[in-house]
Amino acid sequence: MSNYQNIIVEIDGEAATITLNRPEKKNAMSPALHEEMTYALREVRDAKVKVLVLTGAGNAFIGGMDLEKCFFDPFDDPDKFREGTEWSFEWMRHLKAFPAVTIAKVNGWCFGGGMEVVGLCDIAIVAEESTWGLSEVNFGIFPGGGTTWTVAHNMAFRKQALYYSLTADTFDGKKAVELGWASKAVPLAELDAVTQKVVDGLLTKNRIVLEKTKEVYERALDLNFPDSVDYEIAKLWELSRLTKNEWIRVALNSFKKREYKPGLETYELPSEA
Ligand code: ACO
Repeated sequence: MSNYQNIIVEIDGEAATITLNRPEKKNAMSPALHEEMTYALREVRDAKVKVLVLTGAGNAFIGGMDLEKCFFDPFDDPDKFREGTEWSFEWMRHLKAFPAVTIAKVNGWCFGGGMEVVGLCDIAIVAEESTWGLSEVNFGIFPGGGTTWTVAHNMAFRKQALYYSLTADTFDGKKAVELGWASKAVPLAELDAVTQKVVDGLLTKNRIVLEKTKEVYERALDLNFPDSVDYEIAKLWELSRLTKNEWIRVALNSFKKREYKPGLETYELPSEA
């Protein structure tokens, strides 16, 4: 399935971009969009890219779930209701476990389920002018379907997580960084260039190294220190085998010859990497 109606999928070498493309509806996520995202993530995963950027068309990143198409219209038909929301859980679970580095490029409005998407990405580069909010209480529910999980795992402190969940107060991109939702905030006019610079930097790294860095981080969150040490050592040997010991044979060999400074730059990937 690559004839998408609600999203634009671009794969350029080892980098991919998925643009949610319902600007007339502030990129609200309808059941059809959720279904397309499920297939698009599989397509991008199979292309074995290093980086995936998610962004929105127009002046919105994601205006949340499509409140009419996901909730209001199918509410009295339980099967239709479940089907529409299941697609969203499907692709969001996949996004959380995605092998490539995921970057949310937040260009504008970002509400509810949109914040969940950002919360599931590895990196978020956001426009200072973007507007964020957990608006659920404004229409009588709590942040559900995984959004509260991302609130709990992305906001630094209980007092802030609950404040924004209970009040639905909006905040901007700079505040999103302060609260732990975003990696960096830049003026909207610089968002594309700054994101591209981060993507270009990631493309200089070995894909397997990026994947294993994510895997180890995810597991380390749930392990105690001695278990994590064991796990990290075991994963290092897995990485070594999968990369044909590139860190010793290429990177540290190059450092030994004083060809580069690992603190300031990355080693040159062999051409087949
Ligand atoms: N679901 C369905 N339609 C939406 C959504 C949404 N989440 N967000 C925007 N739209 C629609 C609007 O209804 C409008 O449709 P229309 O042209 O048929 O009237 C169109 O997109 C344009 O939106 P406007 O409201 O005209 O744009 P404006 O710039 O004035 O406001 C804003 C933007 C603040 C984002 C407003 O649209 C809004 O409040 N949207 C809802 C945001 C929200 O609370 N999302 C749910 C989060 S919780 C969750 O995801 C479970």
